[in-house]
Amino acid sequence: MNIYFDNAATTQLDKRVLDTMIPFMIDNYGNPSSIHKHGREVKSAIENSRSKIADILGASPNEIFFTSGGTEADNTFLINTVLEKKTSIAITSKIEHHAVLHTLEELEKRNLLKILYVNLDSHGHIDYKHLEQLLINNPQSLVSLMHGNNEIGNLTDIERVGDLCKKTNSIFHSDTVQTIGHFNHNLSNNNIQSIVGSAHKLHGPKGIGFLYINSDYKIPPYIMGGAQERNMRGGTENVSGIIGLSKALELATLEMKETKKHITILKSRMIDLLNKSIDQVLFNGDSSSMTNSLYHVLNIAIPKIEDRQMFLFNLDINKISVSAGSACSSGSQKNSHVIDEIKMDEDYSPVRISFSKLNTTEEVDYVVDKIVELHKIS
Ligand SMILES: Cc1ncc(COP(=O)(O)O)c(C=O)c1O
Repeated sequence: MNIYFDNAATTQLDKRVLDTMIPFMIDNYGNPSSIHKHGREVKSAIENSRSKIADILGASPNEIFFTSGGTEADNTFLINTVLEKKTSIAITSKIEHHAVLHTLEELEKRNLLKILYVNLDSHGHIDYKHLEQLLINNPQSLVSLMHGNNEIGNLTDIERVGDLCKKTNSIFHSDTVQTIGHFNHNLSNNNIQSIVGSAHKLHGPKGIGFLYINSDYKIPPYIMGGAQERNMRGGTENVSGIIGLSKALELATLEMKETKKHITILKSRMIDLLNKSIDQVLFNGDSSSMTNSLYHVLNIAIPKIEDRQMFLFNLDINKISVSAGSACSSGSQKNSHVIDEIKMDEDYSPVRISFSKLNTTEEVDYVVDKIVELHKIS
């Protein structure tokens, strides 16, 4: 049995999504910028997808811009907000995804920005009081705080952050890559200037995502070229990707309740079994919480593993795909920046299990058995 528990890294494409994409790779191959029939048909399909996504998010179609994924969307908003001189102070946390952290760090290196880091509590949650103080002392800042942490699952109350930002005339960007399609978003009544999404995290294709920018907020294009995306992102559109993204989001939204219920059962079962079978097992961040954490992420802190790399290698040999840190730091013994930041005890090894609708209770039982067996011999 091949077991995949790395769904925060990426998910399997849903066949129903693929079915909607194929015609746009073969029959409907026109360039959406062409004014003839072949082009117009494709353009219209793109606009239908944009409207569908906007509807689901409580946004307006002119607030949705297609990008190559979450990374490009984060870069676009953060870099151009700073280049437009809308602010020179960014407030963020040390556990953001590198798409945000490395971008802000690069801007700071070029003396375009000063970064202030909000304190985290012992579970890795934002210290809202500290955030408020930072905002009072630094009004009109750019705040970038993710909704759901991809490694430890911690959820941030983005409505609360949005309200704090509004009071201090600050700009709020949230990396929502891990919550689009997993949680409902209603942008019509939020004080958020920007969020981002990525199709491959919700059983859609890789290389396609979107950037939402509130219509009251204007920045210039980041990728320059043609007039695509209403002059906001040059380059011929990834047509089949866009069709796949909107179908994936539509299905995820329709099936959200059921999926959440299914995955929550799997996650609770794994927590219970691990607690029963491994003495002193812990869960990093707040990932064992059913309310303050992404329901599809569980970050286990396994005690007393001598050779962490060998432990992961053995899971792999047993056909179990999990992650030690984030995907980009896999293959290294070093803790990821997130695990470092939450100060996991050095005697422990982190293993991130991330679930999808396709996982089963049998898989949970098998993985726990293997973890327990490998823990005993390590
Ligand atoms: C929280 C978060 N932000 C951004 C990204 C990057 O998204 P993409 O792979 O679409 O560039 C990821 C994916 O790993 C993520 O989990």
